[in-house]
Amino acid sequence: MATLPMAPPAAAISSFTTRPLYSPSSRSHRLLLARFFSAAPAPARAKGLRAAASAVEVGGVKIAREDVVKEDDPTNNVPDTIFSKIGLQLHRRDNHPLGILKNTIYDYFDKNFTGQFDKFDDLCPLVSVKQNFDDVLVPSDHVSRSYNDTYYVDGQTVLRCHTSAHQAELLRDGHTHFLVTGDVYRRDSIDSTHYPVFHQMEGFHVFSPDEWSGSGMDGTAYAAAELKKTLEGLARHLFGAVEMRWVDTYFPFTNPSFELEIYFQDDWLEVLGCGVTEQEILKRNGRRDHVAWAFGLGLERLAMVLFDIPDIRLFWSNDKRFTSQFSEGKLGVKFKPFSKFPPCYKDMSFWINDAFTENNLCEVVRGIAGDLVEEVKLIDNFTNKKGMTSHCYRIAYRSMERSLTDEEINNLQLNVREAVKDKLKVELR
Ligand code: DAH
Repeated sequence: MATLPMAPPAAAISSFTTRPLYSPSSRSHRLLLARFFSAAPAPARAKGLRAAASAVEVGGVKIAREDVVKEDDPTNNVPDTIFSKIGLQLHRRDNHPLGILKNTIYDYFDKNFTGQFDKFDDLCPLVSVKQNFDDVLVPSDHVSRSYNDTYYVDGQTVLRCHTSAHQAELLRDGHTHFLVTGDVYRRDSIDSTHYPVFHQMEGFHVFSPDEWSGSGMDGTAYAAAELKKTLEGLARHLFGAVEMRWVDTYFPFTNPSFELEIYFQDDWLEVLGCGVTEQEILKRNGRRDHVAWAFGLGLERLAMVLFDIPDIRLFWSNDKRFTSQFSEGKLGVKFKPFSKFPPCYKDMSFWINDAFTENNLCEVVRGIAGDLVEEVKLIDNFTNKKGMTSHCYRIAYRSMERSLTDEEINNLQLNVREAVKDKLKVELR
């Protein structure tokens, strides 16, 4: 098995949305980038998104648009499209696939650890850089801290990019067994399994020395054995009697660290990341001499498989033909696509500059086309004799809900080209 630190196996870096943040190879070649969103409003911004957004409340905290979107602040990179998702909390809807999955996981912990796990699903997604990164020992030069990968509200505040951001505060508040479910935010590319907002559940279980003293194992071995037993049980609870395997990996907050994979529908599927919590985290937060296990899983990734949901954008759909197919307590009811509307492809080529990143491009495209964009894919890439590099991207437009007209798509593409030129300062070809 692999030693640390290394990349997870290819299967584990599949293109699913829970691709672990902290696997060394998953986010390579990303530039640390200064702010790129200029003060100029994008057409989509001008057309009513701003009006829709006023203030939302999460966990008793009021969040206004101007608390999150700061067009004149060079340390802010949160667009309106992202602000509009705050407070929706899909995981708290009992008839939504994500809520159904969350509740099914709750059932497992309630049955096997009666009354022990405290559950949180309403913690504010605005957290400090310290909570999101420092408290869970993410190295200061780690790529996940970059403006290219994370939404910064200002230099000290981010939209959490994982639910691990709450580990330290909950430990300090005295919790020893907890589950945290929440929306998390990451700047990323666009395809059917990636969306800049998705949902995770974090699990955490602290053990005191008397719990392992009689076991003949040291604390770490004991926690690792408990972890594996508990999570294998969870996987069976969700997927039935499946084949499973453990893969060694690296996370900054656990050692040893593992991924659990199951053999499902003819393929190995990564279910979650987990491990034995670094002693430093326990020590700093009032649990010296204890050990703990932790896990983090992506709800969309599992729900897409369990409910046969083919595109991650569907989770956000209010179309009755989607929402009416799911009901409380019914895990694994197979989604029946109401119809497959045709995609429309448009290519665009430009000379890139040093600051160019694909995440920035995707954000601009989403700012214009919203959920009508299904995929943005690099299809050609060359450097000329003068050292200028050209990229050609193919944008797939497709609605989940209706047919798009030629006129509509041509307009979108025109606006996308303008916005890409203005915001990314690239030279269109
Ligand atoms: N925070 C990790 C991520 O987003 C997932 C994770 C892995 C959480 C291991 C954990 C853990 O608590 O132990 O990629």
